[in-house]
This record gives sequence, C-alpha cells and structure tokens, in this order.
Amino acid sequence: MKDVRPDDMAGQVANSLLLNTGVDPSSLDDVLVGCAYPEGEQGLNIGRIVTHYLNGPSNLSGMTTNRLCGSSMQVMHTAAGMIAREWGDLFLCGGIESMSRIQRGGFNRSPSPTLQKSMADAYISMGITAENVASRRNISRRRQEEFALNSHNKAIEAKSNGYFRDEVVSIIIPETNEEIGHDLDGCMRESSLESMARLKPAFIDDGVVTAATSSPLTDGSSFSLVASQRAVNEHNLTPMARIVSAAVVGVHPDEMGLGPIPSTRLALKRAGLSVEDLDVIELNEAFSSQSLACIDELNLPVEKINIDGGAIALGHPLGASGARIVGKTASLLQRNGGQYGLATMCIGGGMGIATILERV
Ligand SMILES: CC(C)(COP(=O)(O)OP(=O)(O)OC[C@H]1O[C@@H](n2cnc3c(N)ncnc32)[C@H](O)[C@@H]1OP(=O)(O)O)[C@@H](O)C(=O)NCCC(=O)NCCS
Repeated sequence: MKDVRPDDMAGQVANSLLLNTGVDPSSLDDVLVGCAYPEGEQGLNIGRIVTHYLNGPSNLSGMTTNRLCGSSMQVMHTAAGMIAREWGDLFLCGGIESMSRIQRGGFNRSPSPTLQKSMADAYISMGITAENVASRRNISRRRQEEFALNSHNKAIEAKSNGYFRDEVVSIIIPETNEEIGHDLDGCMRESSLESMARLKPAFIDDGVVTAATSSPLTDGSSFSLVASQRAVNEHNLTPMARIVSAAVVGVHPDEMGLGPIPSTRLALKRAGLSVEDLDVIELNEAFSSQSLACIDELNLPVEKINIDGGAIALGHPLGASGARIVGKTASLLQRNGGQYGLATMCIGGGMGIATILERV
C-alpha cells in the first residue's frame, strides 16, 4: 500500500462501508478518525478530510483523535459515550495509518528536554519495551516464535477459508487507476521455526525479539459504524454487536505491552463479567512477547484468541488497528455464535485499552 496516499485510502474504506450498509453520509452525526501520526498526507485533521471523500453535506463534521495504537478503538468509545448522552445517534468511526509514507515519530520528532531528564522512558522505543517484557517475564525467543508462527498459520487458513472477504476492500490508486485487490497482503507469510530462528535480534544485539516476532510496519485503514438503537431502527441497519463496556489504563512506558492487563480487568469489571464469560478475544499482537505476557497474567484461553490470526500476520497500522480488532471481534461473535467478546491492545507510551462486546 506504499503507493497509496493515506487520505485516499481512508476515504475509500469509509465510502465502502457506507455503500455496503446503505447509510447516507447526511445521516451521520460525526466522523471520528484515529491516527497515531496525524501529519503530512494523513494530517490537516484527517477526520474532517474524510468527510469530503464521502461527498456528504458540508455540515458533516470530522475529528481526528490520537491515542497512538489505541486511536481508532478510542473513537468508538467516544461515539458510544456521545450516544449514551444522546448527543448523536450515528457515528462513522475508524482509523488510518500509512507507516510507509509517514514515519513513526513524525517528521519533526522533538522530545521534551525536561522529560528526557526526568522520564526518558516517555519516548522509549517499542522494540525495547518488547525486550523488557520478554526478560522480566521470562518469555523465551522460541516461545515467541511459536506464537508468531501460529498467528501466520491461522491467518493463512482464515484467508483460504474466505474469512477476510467481507472485511477487506480493494483500493484504487487514483494517480494510476491501479487496483490493489483484497487478495494481496504484504504481511502474512508461510514461515517456519527454523527460518525464524536464523533471524538477528531486531532491536538490541543480545535481544530475543526479531522481525518475525514483531508486528510489521503496515499501511492500513479500517472503519465501522457506531449507532444508537434509534439509528439502527431508522436506517434499517443490521447490528453485529453491542458495546458493553470500555476501559483505558496507563502502565509504565518501559513495559507498555502489558497495557491490556489492567485495561481488560477494568473493562470486565465494568461489564460485570470475568475471563470465563468471553467467547472471542482479539488481543493485538504488537509483539509476541507482550501478547504472551498478557495471556499468562490474565489466564486467557489460547483457543479463543485471534482465531483468524493477529497483527504479527495481518499487520498493525497503528491508528487503524483498534477499529479493526473491535470489528473482527464482532464478526467472530457472529460467525461462532458466542455471546461476549473482548478486543484489547497495548499502546505506545504505556497504556492499554479494551472493549467488551455482546453479540446481538
Ligand atoms: C522489527 C522491524 C524493525 C523489522 O523491520 P524490517 O527489518 O524492515 O523487517 P523485514 O520485513 O525486512 O524483515 C527482516 C528480515 O526478517 C525476515 N522475516 C520477517 N518475518 C519473518 C518470518 N515470519 N519468518 C521468517 N523470516 C522473517 C524477512 O524476510 C527479512 O529477511 P531479509 O533481511 O533476509 O530480507 C519492524 O517490523 C518493526 O519496527 N516492527 C515493530 C513496529 C512497532 O513498533 N509497532 C508498534 C508496536 S506498539
């Protein structure tokens, strides 16, 4: 997707969703878009820019939200809160990130000299946090590789079963009219423990985290509709799931990958549920090490996690991943007939975010 501008990509994905659901842009109360590095081609308030791609009325508003990796999950929580207060009924919520075209850290990275002295970890590299979690929680390189291999294998099988067909849309590059078909995916790969074992550590010389056990740098966009019951009735929508609860919690930045632990606990508590009640779990795989640490501590049932593969195989376009995994949770609940699902992810800078869904 490196040849597609992120604004073009987000506009096309958002339009596809409205087309598929029959929702007229004039019915929307707001367009909320998450982005971790909202600069350059995905800057200038990309949320508002997306409204123009929809050819909607000029009174349709748009906002950009930045909670780094949690951005597009956050906008779904924001919409749910607005609906609960009756300050709107129908929100287009999504995310965009081109990690090829807009570098992480932004074009003018400028950490605070004050914080560099008092809290340098505020700017710690994500790869180092994955190493910290691996060494502090005794998660071996081999275990990380087995986890990553499993993610690829599940994704490859899901793809061959056609499970992504309803979830992925083709993108047209406007400059060339070239279509990037939805069968193309640059992340998923046939792999083996032997080939993974040969890779050099990606972040420190004597480290245990490699390119195979990290989510790849990815370009992507995802969108979903968050609607009140009133909007569902009015627009004849077919809801997939109800948002039961949500939570976001901070953790120390040097082990940001543990963020799903407290956020999942808080979201479950707010829902009055426990891990045993969950039928589907989407745990964003920023890295194998942090995913495994969360699975261990929360005692999550492995067979319910990332059933169609996770971010190691599917990619992690930062601002777009949250809406993707919430949507995936809803879709898996529909497919498997379960009642409750959890979508959770760690967030750079040290946070975790979680959403509990119930199938409707
Ligand atoms: C880890 C990272 C630095 C690797 O970047 P990269 O070196 O450009 O990655 P590549 O895809 O070129 O892979 C490097 C090598 O590993 C190999 N490789 C990657 N995945 C593999 C797998 N599953 N099996 C076997 N080999 C694999 C590649 O083929 C490549 O080999 P080559 O050098 O012989 O071509 C980068 O993906 C990264 O920073 N990821 C983390 C992103 C992040 O922090 N996200 C936020 C999380 S909070």
